Amino acid sequence: MKQLQGAPWLLAHRSMLKPNQLLKISLLGQDYVMWQDGHGKISALPNACPHMGAMLSEGWCVAQPDGSSAVTCPFHALEFNASGCTVLPGSNKQTKSLLQPLELIIQGDFIWSYGGYDPKIPIPSIMNEIAAEYEFIGVTGERSIGTDLLSLLLNMHDYNHQNGTHRELFEIEAVQVKRFIDEGFHSHAYLSQPRKQPSFREILKNPAQLAMPKVLEAHLENFFPFMGLLHGEDKLLSLKECHFYLPEAERQSRVFVLMYMKAHSPIAHLLKRNLLKLIDVVVDQDAKILSKIYADTPQRIKLNNEVGMDWVRRNFESFPAVVEPNLSR
Ligand code: FES
Ligand SMILES: [Fe+2]
Repeated sequence: MKQLQGAPWLLAHRSMLKPNQLLKISLLGQDYVMWQDGHGKISALPNACPHMGAMLSEGWCVAQPDGSSAVTCPFHALEFNASGCTVLPGSNKQTKSLLQPLELIIQGDFIWSYGGYDPKIPIPSIMNEIAAEYEFIGVTGERSIGTDLLSLLLNMHDYNHQNGTHRELFEIEAVQVKRFIDEGFHSHAYLSQPRKQPSFREILKNPAQLAMPKVLEAHLENFFPFMGLLHGEDKLLSLKECHFYLPEAERQSRVFVLMYMKAHSPIAHLLKRNLLKLIDVVVDQDAKILSKIYADTPQRIKLNNEVGMDWVRRNFESFPAVVEPNLSR
């Protein structure tokens, strides 16, 4: 199974982990239990208990006197510390490690992992830069979708699906890719999207229509394969909408979106909830269409503006090598 072993994956943002609560994470066909102890230390162990295979993520966390915490198995209540050691009943000695901890790379609030594989591409510094400069609004659009990673990435870099998948939301008339800068595993797309002009009736029904820009301009910055970033600029606010993708298993993928903003007007703060809700609806629409696609259908029609998808396909095939873009196409 080709799932791009050696790419970094953002497993979670720290806000997704409540202290001493267990979170189940799946990556590259393996399940893990992840938690944060009272000191803010984050750990992850394989989720299958080495006694009789119960899911540790269904158990609970026990805080230790020193502030660390251990995971208790829900079946027979053995406790495993962050190194995967336990103390068997009747013994007062710790066992050797019975569960190999998942290697995590923690950068501030960002929890990255290579899933135990040798790194083939570096973790970009962009999230640390955004976190230092922008206000974190929240996590939204978290979904586990029954689709393979390639289909998910194709959808997320498809600049034509606004009119189908997201038609009620944006009412976009046409999409123009003004510029696509291809730098191997990194790329930028600049889109111009004229919107359908509302009819007189529609304006009467919803005067807010008048406030929507006539042309939606978008700058997307892509980091193959794990992240897509929308840079939004507006009179009210600057927005950083950071989409993360990861392969849970061969036919199961997860997405979530971290939202950051810089307010240029106090009104911007009133929009935070709506922004999170809007993106949640967008991801929901993507998840719906992804569950209604016959994967492996040969593509016999090519539309304009598929340059983002071409970029995904090329990188997917060549990973971890980077091949030059075929500019003759
Ligand atoms: S299965 Fe976990 S303690 Fe028995
Ligand atoms: Fe979409």
